[in-house]
Amino acid sequence: MNSIYVLSESDTMELLEMEEVIEAVENVYREKTLGSGKLFPMVFHEFESQVADMDIKSGTLDDMGVYGLKLVSWFGENRKKNLPMLSGVVMLFDRETGIPLALINAEHMTGMRTGAAGAIGARYIARRDSQVMLMVGAGHQATYQIRAMQTVFPALKKVMVFDPVNMDNASVFVDNFGYKKENTQYIAVENIEAAAGEADIIVTATPSRKPMIMKEWVKPGTHFSCMGSDMEGKQEIDPEILASARLVADDINQSVNVGEFEKGIKEGIISKEDIICEIGDVISGRKKGRMSEEEITVFDSTGLGLQDIAVGYMAVKKAGLMDDIKKMNF
Ligand SMILES: NC(=O)c1ccc[n+]([C@@H]2O[C@H](COP(=O)([O-])OP(=O)(O)OC[C@H]3O[C@@H](n4cnc5c(N)ncnc54)[C@H](O)[C@@H]3O)[C@@H](O)[C@H]2O)c1
Repeated sequence: MNSIYVLSESDTMELLEMEEVIEAVENVYREKTLGSGKLFPMVFHEFESQVADMDIKSGTLDDMGVYGLKLVSWFGENRKKNLPMLSGVVMLFDRETGIPLALINAEHMTGMRTGAAGAIGARYIARRDSQVMLMVGAGHQATYQIRAMQTVFPALKKVMVFDPVNMDNASVFVDNFGYKKENTQYIAVENIEAAAGEADIIVTATPSRKPMIMKEWVKPGTHFSCMGSDMEGKQEIDPEILASARLVADDINQSVNVGEFEKGIKEGIISKEDIICEIGDVISGRKKGRMSEEEITVFDSTGLGLQDIAVGYMAVKKAGLMDDIKKMNF
């Protein structure tokens, strides 16, 4: 009889460290470029438009000996029932035998790997001397984005938080942000135009379907990590920004179909060929990231199932060292 690990959200909270997650996600991008990490076609189903949907992102990490998937459900009506709107699980399988290894709660893990992705984009293509971050969106992902960014940029002096829907959300977020560093100032901002003009790094993590940041507001040398657009129709920044920026994606195919670059391409403002490369090409040294201090750079992170597989596998390996984690016969 085989046995599988079952990791709850609190298990993943105990097991995952941000530095290690950043390393694992960076490795995934590299493996994808080198060919041992492969994505399988994405499955998306809308039960009811803008009310309830689910997607499955899957793939294999051959060198790591594991393949798997993440299924995420989004049920908007859950808010009224006091239930989470977003929920999901990761399933891992042994690449040699196909036998299931683990079933893992995906909520905290998704935040960690998505935070890591945004920070990796900035590590490779933002200016190294970046000191001011603007976080657009003050929801679940924002905590992880700031946590990861200040891990990669320990000299950040200022973090501004903007909520496009309600200014109070940003203030509450800043008050409650639990990872404040001594030498960093954290402020909620109301004027996004001024904040965008001040920022060296702008991270967007909202479900917006129209641009929130315009080209005229942004200074030369700014870097964007666009995290929110992960489904057809979503868009966070002015496509005119894309027209004159250096564009890097996590996966070009996903980016063109469901990412931040989707609308700019559909509107004819940029073309697929304007996407210089994938972030794995920069990490592995195959392509150059930023070309000058003045250049505006954009990393479009649509989210890869491979990130969940690698981070989940890391959690499982660490769980093997713990006594009180559940293992079930299967
Ligand atoms: N790229 C990835 O790998 C990845 C991973 C996880 C989540 N996401 C995406 O990131 C986005 C944010 O996720 P979250 O979990 O933080 O959501 P959340 O609901 O916790 O927070 C969303 C934030 O955006 C604001 N907002 C809500 N509706 C908006 C609108 N129409 N326009 C502008 N702002 C709006 C909210 O006030 C809040 O500040 C979503 O689009 C989600 O699908 C991407």
